[in-house]
Amino acid sequence: MFASKKDIVGIDVGSSAVKIVCLRESRGAFQLESVGIMPLDPETIVDNTIMDSTAIVDSIQNLLKALKIKSNNVATSVSGHSVIIRKINLPVMTDSELEASIQWEAEQYIPFDISEVNIDFQILSPDPQDPSQMNVMLVAAKKDFVDDHTALFVEAGLNPVVMDIDCFAVENMFNYNYGFVDDEIVALIDLGASATSVSVLRGDSSVFTRDIQTGGNLLSEELQKRLGLSSIDAERAKLGERNIADVDPDAVDEVLSEAIDNLAQEIQRSLDFFAATENDDQISKIYLTGGVSNSIKVKEALEERLGIPAERVDPFRNVKVKDKEFDVEYLNAIGPMFSVATGLAMRKVGDK
Ligand SMILES: Nc1ncnc2c1ncn2[C@@H]1O[C@H](COP(=O)(O)OP(=O)(O)OP(=O)(O)O)[C@@H](O)[C@H]1O
Ligand SMILES: [Mg+2]
Repeated sequence: MFASKKDIVGIDVGSSAVKIVCLRESRGAFQLESVGIMPLDPETIVDNTIMDSTAIVDSIQNLLKALKIKSNNVATSVSGHSVIIRKINLPVMTDSELEASIQWEAEQYIPFDISEVNIDFQILSPDPQDPSQMNVMLVAAKKDFVDDHTALFVEAGLNPVVMDIDCFAVENMFNYNYGFVDDEIVALIDLGASATSVSVLRGDSSVFTRDIQTGGNLLSEELQKRLGLSSIDAERAKLGERNIADVDPDAVDEVLSEAIDNLAQEIQRSLDFFAATENDDQISKIYLTGGVSNSIKVKEALEERLGIPAERVDPFRNVKVKDKEFDVEYLNAIGPMFSVATGLAMRKVGDK
């Protein structure tokens, strides 16, 4: 009974950093309790694979200690190619009927052996074209991948009570902060270091998701490859520094704008795929999260390519933030990086 009242800590283990958010809920409104980030060495997580679990466990523990967080209950999430999210069409049935047959129904949609995955689903809506059918969001995640992720928290002495998917956490954060208009279609794009995830929402429900296995790292890699920059200089140049010794600022701008356009093109391809499946539906706005959304050039490139207005998301927009306790300006500057962690912190014990 009291479990749901316990604080839950949202922990997002991204490939570039661990991010933690703690919220306090009172009468349906959230207040920020703590927020923190600890960068990870680029070798720690490579291609979605944990290479150095000790480094991650240490970062989690150090961050919790620095933030003086006592709660052991953690909501966390996974993403990437070991996670499959598909909207499928099935004959109308109840939740419990589907529960009993989901393994069998899901088999044809999942490129892995069914015994190797954890399966979850959500019944979305009846099919408007055929009332005997319904739309279902199917989620399958490779067990060993989820187990490796869970083990990080167990090793850190924590209790992972909610295992979410990155893009659903972002949606959760978004719905709380921005609300939704029935039938309005918006795209949420999480621009991370190694991956970009695209999800399309109609009202408050997810209708399309797609992962692109490239992100902010692409920009620094191009600077390194084409201008011979060190990884440190490439990162500085990417974040906007232009007075780096022996580096031509015009060349940096040129390489960056090409790389950004490539990223925008990949995103456009994903959204074209959505347009092809959903025929007449138009995306009215794009909301950007993740660290790369701090780049105004990325926002402009997307607006130009897609012809849709884009906005950088503030995950604390409707979260009460005491300005005596937090540097509000700093929070605003780094906010989008905390989108996943904030969505996770909004979960409750018992959520799946
Ligand atoms: N102003 C900026 N301009 C361009 N890139 C930026 C800016 N600020 C941060 N970034 C980039 O954002 C990325 C970090 O974002 P984020 O924390 O969302 O990634 P992550 O969650 O660790 O990665 P992933 O989700 O791909 O595993 C880094 O690549 C960083 O260089
Ligand atoms: Mg991320």
